Amino acid sequence: MITRDTIDKILQTANIYEVISDFIQLKKRGVNYLGNCPFHHEKSPSFTVSPVKEIYKCFGCGKSGNAVGFVMEHEGMSYPEALKYLAAKYHIEIEEVRNTPEQEQQKTEKDSLYILLAAAQKHFAEVLHNDEEGKTIGLSYFKERGLSAKSIEDFGLGWAQQGKDTFTQWALKNGFLKEQLTKTGLSFETDDGHLLDRFRERILFPIHSVSGKVVGFGGRTLKTTGKEAKYINSPETDVYQKSKILYGISQAKKAIRIKDECILVEGYMDVISMYQRGVENVVASSGTSLTEDQLKLVKRFTDNIIFLFDGDDAGQKAALRGIDLALEQGLNVRLVTLPADKDPDSFAREFDAEEIQEYFNKNAKDFVRFKADALLKDIGSDIIRRSEVIREVMQSVEKITDPVARSLFVREAEKIFGVDEKFLYEELQRISVKKFKDENKPAEINVTFTQPPQPKPINVADVSIQEKQLIKDIILYGSKNYNEEETITKYILSQLPELEWVDKICEKIFNEIKQVSDDKNEVLDFTHFVNTEDTEMQFFVTTLVMESQQLDKGWDDFLGRHVDTPEDNFITDVENVLNYLKLHKIIIMLPEVGNNILKAVQENNEEDLLHWQEIKMDLNRTKIEICKTLGISIIPEDNSWKKKIIEAQSSSPD
Ligand code: CTP
Ligand code: MN
Repeated sequence: MITRDTIDKILQTANIYEVISDFIQLKKRGVNYLGNCPFHHEKSPSFTVSPVKEIYKCFGCGKSGNAVGFVMEHEGMSYPEALKYLAAKYHIEIEEVRNTPEQEQQKTEKDSLYILLAAAQKHFAEVLHNDEEGKTIGLSYFKERGLSAKSIEDFGLGWAQQGKDTFTQWALKNGFLKEQLTKTGLSFETDDGHLLDRFRERILFPIHSVSGKVVGFGGRTLKTTGKEAKYINSPETDVYQKSKILYGISQAKKAIRIKDECILVEGYMDVISMYQRGVENVVASSGTSLTEDQLKLVKRFTDNIIFLFDGDDAGQKAALRGIDLALEQGLNVRLVTLPADKDPDSFAREFDAEEIQEYFNKNAKDFVRFKADALLKDIGSDIIRRSEVIREVMQSVEKITDPVARSLFVREAEKIFGVDEKFLYEELQRISVKKFKDENKPAEINVTFTQPPQPKPINVADVSIQEKQLIKDIILYGSKNYNEEETITKYILSQLPELEWVDKICEKIFNEIKQVSDDKNEVLDFTHFVNTEDTEMQFFVTTLVMESQQLDKGWDDFLGRHVDTPEDNFITDVENVLNYLKLHKIIIMLPEVGNNILKAVQENNEEDLLHWQEIKMDLNRTKIEICKTLGISIIPEDNSWKKKIIEAQSSSPD
């Protein structure tokens, strides 16, 4: 592990302008630099580098981070890899925390596995091109299937020769050890101690990590007897975890980023054929059903995923399974079904890139439409089953966290099923309550599922804006004084009511700040979060700060004069935000209190009634005060519980 000291030295030395200039052209624009974003396709530059804040941000695609983050993102490197890259650039010697001998051994062991896998890949490719058996069987098969020399090269395809241990013997002769051979899964040991090849007489598809290292192989037999498994894949090893890898990601990542879209197919050949046709943003889940980690990997490069599956039942089922997983990761999902007798491979061989795009445009469905079509297909006019389908679709809609997107999908479901929106929202409410219960949390009042046309007490989006504002204030001004005794951080910590945070990253950052303040009496600031290894947090914080800078400047330009930026009056700013958040809390609590009053009336419980009425008055008083301070009008109260009290009283027997 690289020491904290070295990391700090790298962070201090690396100049973000210099680092990024190695990859793209930057022009000076005011205090910042501007260039064309390498992460998405754009004609006018919106990629901004701030040498003062040592961060970059693209106002087109939203990517942002510090120098390390840029190298990780641009080169597909891990955090330590990016640090090593920067250390080399600035001639900084890397000090590593001395690993325990055990860790040290593990590390060198892993490295030795990578070396063997890379050597094996080269060997298999060489056999394919130069060995008689490789050429006549393997290479001619690839040619027959229409693969170009470039595709074969780009994907590093190879041939595993016949014989029980041809490869194993080659590897041993070249100095590799028995243990490495078994640990990579390239060879396996029989009960009586013989070391045999896993892959024999098969074409080989090397599987690469994101950064392009060979981690395993998939091998396809060319025999049609059906006696052998069509595919044999490397087993799980220390360097190959199937659930975390997508086939083709190393070759596709750049195109995925530029097209801002990832196409997911099933097999090795599907990926390669599409790639050869110029549709390069394609990956496959290969050999496993799609996992959460694989989707997280996609999410590193884009928010948009297209499932491209065969028209057969198996293909549809796989797509249906993947939808919720993808939605849970916050991905926008579209689905394209191919004609019944086609798979992406044969499809790509028949049509060119333009025609493929056209087919996508015509046939891509969003998940509501796709699920509805797939599930309604063979239920006829059965009303019960139809309502089950609706429920099934709403299960997926519930996974979407963005309230605007969700309401659009609800509207679409309304159109497709001809069911009033109101019932769909009720269904969402039921699903979410059930989910909370299943997760052992008490059901909460959930403001997000209120039907849009009804007046909403407070907008969740607004709340998350306030939360962001609070986090921004705390990381930028947290160490400044609020008054003679307290820092801003301390003040906020003492004033903030127990919140159900709407924005989960804000919550994470806040908790980290709180913990460090409680434990060490230290204040975590902007630099800490910009340089954190947690890329999600880093992204969030840099975006927050860069965008606010832009906002403030926008106001000045707009008014033609300098206005007080939060920099100048952060104390008022903090007070306002705290007031908003308190108000939100009260608004959530009031209906709960109303319910308790109703219950007390129904149960004729005088004591409870007094207690809850007092609380209600208190809350209302605070509410009015806060509204006055903020200079906003009082939000209409939800009085439906009052009506219920009247009903309850009039229907009670006495
Ligand atoms: N697969 C596997 N093991 C099998 C069968 C399939 O791992 N026994 C995986 C492979 O990743 C394969 C994918 O599932 O690429 C799709 O399978 P299939 O459609 O049978 O293979 P193709 O890649 O389409 O191969 P081909 O076109 O050569 O038949
Ligand atoms: Mn196929």
